[in-house]
Amino acid sequence: MDRIIIPFPGNEKLAAGIAGILHIVQGEFSTRSFPDGESYIRLLSDIKGKEVIIICSLYHPDEKILPLYFLSKLLKDSGALRVKLVSPYLGYMRQDKQFNPGEAITSEYFASFVSQFADELITIDPHLHRRISMDEIYSIPCKVLHASGLISQWIKENVKDPVLVGPDSESKQWVSEVAREANAPYIVLEKIRHGDRDVEVSAPGMERYKTHTPVLIDDIISTARTMIQAAKLLADAGMKAPVCIGVHAVFAGDAYEELKKAGAAKIVTCNTIPHISNGIDTKWIITRAI
Ligand code: R5P
Repeated sequence: MDRIIIPFPGNEKLAAGIAGILHIVQGEFSTRSFPDGESYIRLLSDIKGKEVIIICSLYHPDEKILPLYFLSKLLKDSGALRVKLVSPYLGYMRQDKQFNPGEAITSEYFASFVSQFADELITIDPHLHRRISMDEIYSIPCKVLHASGLISQWIKENVKDPVLVGPDSESKQWVSEVAREANAPYIVLEKIRHGDRDVEVSAPGMERYKTHTPVLIDDIISTARTMIQAAKLLADAGMKAPVCIGVHAVFAGDAYEELKKAGAAKIVTCNTIPHISNGIDTKWIITRAI
């Protein structure tokens, strides 16, 4: 089957990298908002009889999901055989239970919507915490890729005597994996979240690693409160300034600046969301999965 790759705005660089490795032609569409806020979509490439690979990282998902739906419908109406959605960052994965009575479990609703218009989904380190598999909420085939190998490689090449630090129990899954691959020790902090921007962390057994460089690793850096509290705790314990690594650079508001101010020696993220901190290229693992 012939293939063509179409980037959503903001994903052009990653798409060009993938298209270059795979020698796949890049297609185009244009999109804009009408004065009333509705979306306009126009396909500019011939996709008839092809599999279309859309690259669309779903950060700020509310502003992207409807244009993405329109584009997918248009592709099918124009003769595309399959729509493969590559969302290096997949939004709406964290509201995966009712934390308070009456709340919507939006991860389920979002998954059911995407499953209606994409034939397949490829994503990187989705926030699977209380769920084990994407199949619990997505009814289309999903390939879950992991950035742990790329992160451990980056640590091996860039950090001397690292001790990997997971800021909360949820991070243990990838911190332990990265530590194994980087051949480095790791510790996991204990976190209590009191509110969106109110996070408390504690660190049992950290004193052993005073001469090491702490490398904080998390899947998502959003408000950065989790990393900031962890960095403060490390500073209070007399540890060196940490290198902060996030898979997904969500960085809400001034979170990036705040994290820098909190004493991060360096902040590095994967390019699943375009950001100035991107230092780890995921095009290789995406290309393999495609
Ligand atoms: C928690 O569920 C995640 O693994 C991250 O720790 C969390 O999303 C980070 O959020 P924030 O940057 O807002 O503290």
